[in-house]
Amino acid sequence: MRTPTDLHADIGEVLLEEGQIQARIRELGAQISTDYAGRRLTLVSVLKGSLPFMADLMRAISLPLRIDLMEVSSYGGATTESSGLVRILKDLSSSIEGEEVLICEDIIDTGLTLNYLIRYLGGKKPASLRICTLLDKPARRLVEIPVDYTGFTIPDQFVVGYGLDYDELYRNLRFVGVLRPEVYTTPE
Ligand code: PRP
Repeated sequence: MRTPTDLHADIGEVLLEEGQIQARIRELGAQISTDYAGRRLTLVSVLKGSLPFMADLMRAISLPLRIDLMEVSSYGGATTESSGLVRILKDLSSSIEGEEVLICEDIIDTGLTLNYLIRYLGGKKPASLRICTLLDKPARRLVEIPVDYTGFTIPDQFVVGYGLDYDELYRNLRFVGVLRPEVYTTPE
């Protein structure tokens, strides 16, 4: 397995700077705080990619809230394509029956992951179920997803950073960047 020595050197272009991301998250947090005022909000993070987004978004919301974590996987390791198969690696810790649930995702690509999660979580009878995604890549959508809050709509490029990985790396970058194609096309 290839292990990069310099994460930044593998980035061709910075798509979203750290400051842009944080400013947009403050806006999303303010909007969500208004929309859910007086309601019992539960944020459900879809790990692992949404970890930084969830951590920043929850602190941008001024309301009392609960969090829960799910881990699902749709991509098979060192690949840039969705397999269409969604596996639950970690389920919710608490019941969401009667709760106002907001799913936090890092990116919606084909929509297959959320399509599955909407049905799965919807079956647990929450009072409401809405979606907040940092990134939306509509060019690759295979199933329609009702997105309630979107941070940024991005072009069809393979992006990493701020939670998003390639082969489990690059998640700790503070910005979102386009991975140089040679990183995922060069044979090991
Ligand atoms: C990524 C991302 C979304 C999903 C989006 O997760 O975090 O959950 O893919 O793709 P889709 O719209 O085509 O389904 P991934 O399965 O790579 O797991 P990760 O969050 O652990 O990186």
